[in-house]
Amino acid sequence: METLWKLNKLSKKYFIRGLTGAEEITALDSVEMEIFGGETFGVIGESGSGKTTLGKTMIRLVEPTSGEIYFKGSKITGMREKEFIKLRRSFQIVFQDPYRALNPRMAVGNAIMEGIREGAGRAQKKEKAGHMLELVGIAPERIDDFPHQFSGGERQRVAVARALSTSPSFMVCDEPTSNLDLSIQAKILNLFIELKEKLNLTYLFISHNIKIIEFIADRVAVMYAGRIAEYGSTARVLGNPLHPYTKLLVAASFFKKTETDKIPYKVEKQGCPFSRLCPDVREICRKEKPELMPAEEGHFVACFGFTNNFAEY
Ligand SMILES: Nc1ncnc2c1ncn2[C@@H]1O[C@H](COP(=O)(O)OP(=O)(O)OP(=O)(O)O)[C@@H](O)[C@H]1O
Ligand SMILES: [Mg+2]
Repeated sequence: METLWKLNKLSKKYFIRGLTGAEEITALDSVEMEIFGGETFGVIGESGSGKTTLGKTMIRLVEPTSGEIYFKGSKITGMREKEFIKLRRSFQIVFQDPYRALNPRMAVGNAIMEGIREGAGRAQKKEKAGHMLELVGIAPERIDDFPHQFSGGERQRVAVARALSTSPSFMVCDEPTSNLDLSIQAKILNLFIELKEKLNLTYLFISHNIKIIEFIADRVAVMYAGRIAEYGSTARVLGNPLHPYTKLLVAASFFKKTETDKIPYKVEKQGCPFSRLCPDVREICRKEKPELMPAEEGHFVACFGFTNNFAEY
């Protein structure tokens, strides 16, 4: 498979001014991974683990503090805006809340037409917008309706149509179904799958629900405190988890605790961020951060434990 994205030691720190002075937040910490063209790459992790920052940094909505991002072999970190502008249209993001992408005072057809390339006439654009609506399962006759006239699920479909209007090849899907009723979630997930096939898309699919990731993702990265704890094919990572945090996630899901917030989350500042909660914690885990290492073909884990070399420590 073709490597579409390559992230090299990608880090993002935020500096905020709080009541007690300046505070530094590490949202991403040396993230290293590759995404293949045409796959759905899942990202799972607790709130605050850096999932959204990862997606936004990749498509340059957020500037990284350090590290490099390669897209189709070209380095896009540090690329001039003039050059990046050609790529900008091919990257899109769909948020949990479709109102973030839709102006409540604009008819949905107009919102979709905004994204369609200049050059086409208005009638042509409108026809295309209608086609986009059809593609996401909304009757094209509703082109002049406003966002509030749609149900939650329909509104998310419209937001997807708007995202598709720039003909993207890569889409960050940031928990796009977590605001929806369970019955509608499945329909929207199926829509994403269908669109990916029809339009040759690649997804970074963010969720804090292990069942959704299991259903939709070809490969998955498990994030903890801005770092990748483990990544590889979804079947291997969730079927044979190697990182103690992933093990906990998988075990909890057997008891129908499928959301990451059902799992304790306490970040240790020094050493491995999971060391405070880890049942297998060793001396070294409190001092050093484990790097991602290959555990088996295409399966990586950042844990001093997986090597079975505990005795050494
Ligand atoms: N603009 C910002 N300014 C300051 N801190 C930020 C900003 N954006 C994110 N952060 C912090 O960075 C960390 C990672 O945030 P991020 O939104 O990427 O997490 P997440 O995994 O997407 O969480 P959630 O599941 O709640 O969406 C958090 O500690 C968050 O508070
Ligand atoms: Mg988020």
